[in-house]
Amino acid sequence: MSAIVEPTCQIYEGWEEFYHGDTDDKKDCFLAEGKLFDIIFAQQFNRPFLDYICNLANQIRRMAKTKMGSQKLRSLLAHKRAMLYFVQPSTRTFLSFQNACHILGLKVSETRETSTSSEVKGESQEDTIRTFASYVNLIIVRHPEAGFAEKTAWVLNQTDRPVPVINGGSGPDQHPTQAMLDIYTLERSFKHIGGLDGKKIAMVGDLKRGRTVRSLSYLMKNYRDVTLYFVSPQIFRMKDDIKAFLNKHGIKFYESDDFRSIMPEADAIYMTRIQQEYADDPSGEIDAYPDFHFKKEHLGIIKPHCTIMHPLPRRYEIDVAVDKDPRAAYWRQERNGMWLRAALIAYIFGVEKEIGTEFL
Ligand code: MLT
Repeated sequence: MSAIVEPTCQIYEGWEEFYHGDTDDKKDCFLAEGKLFDIIFAQQFNRPFLDYICNLANQIRRMAKTKMGSQKLRSLLAHKRAMLYFVQPSTRTFLSFQNACHILGLKVSETRETSTSSEVKGESQEDTIRTFASYVNLIIVRHPEAGFAEKTAWVLNQTDRPVPVINGGSGPDQHPTQAMLDIYTLERSFKHIGGLDGKKIAMVGDLKRGRTVRSLSYLMKNYRDVTLYFVSPQIFRMKDDIKAFLNKHGIKFYESDDFRSIMPEADAIYMTRIQQEYADDPSGEIDAYPDFHFKKEHLGIIKPHCTIMHPLPRRYEIDVAVDKDPRAAYWRQERNGMWLRAALIAYIFGVEKEIGTEFL
């Protein structure tokens, strides 16, 4: 039987101060030559950037549908390699990043378990990441700890091989690329009714520990006159840091525990599951809150254009009978993630100019 070796704990001078600093002051650290280099938190994105990436994702999805277009896309980054370091379980984020890399021709390596890396010998996480950077040109990280992707990027940016880092989900904290794909889905759903500006979005479920709703809330500062409804059981209310951010940026929000009364108001309903994996004792926590579930009978009371979203995986939050309704967007939403992430990677490597508008 092998012994479990404690991870080596290395002290990086300046990290703690940086991590607890103001987000606006940190942004420059993740830029290179005036553009985004590392994708770490949702506050890095402004409206022109979001519009640009959504448009690029549209171009890539059209181009990928023809043989000639997909061959051209695969040639764009055939000389690059990516590492998917996903040590927190993932289905969609992993597969959509992996397939986004394939679309652009990147070769992909993966680690999904620290038990198969030298971390079992006690190697520090930071040294493990530096090792990846020796072999690849891009690192995509999913980790159960808040701040892990940020530390990865910060550490690498001080070495002589600073490869870009994308945060594929950091604990209950941030999921910036999920927020981008959610914006992409919302903008596509509202294409014929003026886009996301002026819309009312209900976010429902575990808002306290759900990183998707946190990151998406940050992005709302880029849209005009949006109203948010935070609908949750009392114990899972949105945290104060997000509410302070919304107040600072003049974004209207209301809190409620009466989901049914909010349903007819919303242009989009964003469902989330209870994040039991972050509970101290998951077995001691109730996982079903039926008053915060979307059921087939609710289809009759929501707006004709209301978009029903969910980052998935779902538990009991949305009845499968809802899936057939054209307003159920969650399966489209997960596929949108692949196109959006391909666009983001193309942007990071600066090959977007080679993506043709003739396919639009
Ligand atoms: C996430 O990674 O946060 C998921 O997509 C949403 C969830 O796990 O509930």
